[in-house]
Amino acid sequence: MIKRLLIGLLGLVVLGVIGIFVLAWRSALPPIEPPAASSFPDALIAQGEVLAGAGNCASCHTQPGGQAYAGGVGLESGFGTIFSTNITPDADTGIGRWSEQAFARALHEGVARDGSQLFPAFPFDHFTKVRDEDIKALYAFFMTRQPLKAEAKQNALPFPLNVRALQAGWKLLFLHKGVYQPDPDKSEQWNRGAYLVEGLAHCAACHTPRNRLGAERTDAEYAGAMIESWLAPALTAANPAPMPWTQDELFAYLRTGATALHGSAAGAMSDVVHAGLAKVPDADVRAIAVYFADIDGSASRAASADAALAKAMAFEHRDMHDDIAAGANLYVAACASCHYNSGASPLPARPGLALNSALTGPDPSNLIHVILDGIGRDDGMPVLFMPGFAGALSDADIATLAAWLRRTRTDQPEWKDLQATVGRIRSHQG
Ligand code: HEC
Ligand code: HEC
Ligand code: HEC
Repeated sequence: MIKRLLIGLLGLVVLGVIGIFVLAWRSALPPIEPPAASSFPDALIAQGEVLAGAGNCASCHTQPGGQAYAGGVGLESGFGTIFSTNITPDADTGIGRWSEQAFARALHEGVARDGSQLFPAFPFDHFTKVRDEDIKALYAFFMTRQPLKAEAKQNALPFPLNVRALQAGWKLLFLHKGVYQPDPDKSEQWNRGAYLVEGLAHCAACHTPRNRLGAERTDAEYAGAMIESWLAPALTAANPAPMPWTQDELFAYLRTGATALHGSAAGAMSDVVHAGLAKVPDADVRAIAVYFADIDGSASRAASADAALAKAMAFEHRDMHDDIAAGANLYVAACASCHYNSGASPLPARPGLALNSALTGPDPSNLIHVILDGIGRDDGMPVLFMPGFAGALSDADIATLAAWLRRTRTDQPEWKDLQATVGRIRSHQG
């Protein structure tokens, strides 16, 4: 009896495995002769370059200081490291032999030319929304890049997560195939923003928390998430910045990388702004701002904005010399020369710390990153920079300073385990 049961169970398992492989099976698409660059119209290539900026393809496919689009960037997936691939038109190691149909299938369905399943570290769950004419332009752009020889690196994923065919199961659950469908109740500008944000720009890939299987949680869209030890803050009404993210604030931040009322784009967000959106025309950045200003309900907070600003500036004006805490001493010695502002209005070049989500957010990681590494000339505001304090301040100093800033510049609950978090972030930076 038990034997029969076991055989029955084994049969089910075998059927399940066969089922997955049947589900996963995709035909290889025939290889082509790499098309001549001259076969693509210049205007289409130029349009593709803009779209590649919106999709920020470079931040995942170009290593820092490396050759453009040759791949090899290691992405932490939470399950292991997945390496991006060479998407230059090299015939042997890149996508030179990929037809437009194969390229489109990769972006829309996450399937490679040879029929194998791609991992969702490649955000095809967003790229599936991209329209065919835009895929065509992207194809023209990538097929006219410099072909580079670069073999794919071996992923560091444990078995069975490294089995590509199993991705078919993930897709069945989490991939909603199909191009973006406009919402007829919203304006054309809003729909343009939504098309870019939900599709190519994949803002949710960092700003939406993921479930245990690594898929974005549909019940918590843009609710904020940790990404490679940074907090990508909520972009909903739950955003922790004291000042509302109005359409104009969003536009200025996404266009320039910093605003006086909200501070700078650092970490991965700096790439999104300076490497990606920098290629995108004003009208499209404006459309993205329109979309998020609707999602975050900033209009309903406009009435209380003046009071929020006055409160934050009052925090800034605390007389530091009356405070004998060790954190105050560290602030005066290390930060006040650049950040103290005795005026009533925030100044772009002296970022108001009480206005910054790095201080008011639920997690101290962004503040710690900025104190350790500073902000480079290419991040945040162009030209202006902040030095890093990794060499000058110990983990305990940074924890003390962060705790003091949190206590004196916000009315939020204290952060726990600060010193351990500083140590963890410092060691990850290598
Ligand atoms: C968040 C990181 C990320 C972004 C952004 C990204 N990619 Fe990728 N891409 C990857 C990773 C990782 C892989 C490899 C997946 C795998 O091996 O299963 C990949 C694979 C691909 C492939 C399949 C190549 C092959 O040889 O199998 C193509 C084509 C591709 N990406 C094109 C693009 C384009 C075009 C853009 C911009 C519109 C883009 N990617 C943006 C991470 C990214
Ligand atoms: C690769 C990950 C990533 C992607 C993609 C991404 N972001 Fe971010 N974003 C971050 C991180 C990390 C921060 C925190 C940066 C900092 O504190 O300087 C951030 C910060 C922000 C902020 C500031 C929030 C605050 O309260 O300080 C806004 C606004 C924002 N992102 C909008 C967007 C939009 C719009 C998109 C899509 C066009 C996008 N992000 C795509 C990672 C990302
Ligand atoms: C030499 C001047 C200087 C010093 C010293 C300095 N900062 Fe900054 N800080 C800046 C500038 C400038 C920016 C904005 C940089 C940009 O946008 O490019 C900035 C930005 C910041 C931000 C905003 C980050 C964001 O994501 O918006 C924080 C937080 C911050 N500094 C904290 C500190 C702390 C804490 C100290 C003391 C340990 C300190 N700074 C010392 C000049 C300085």
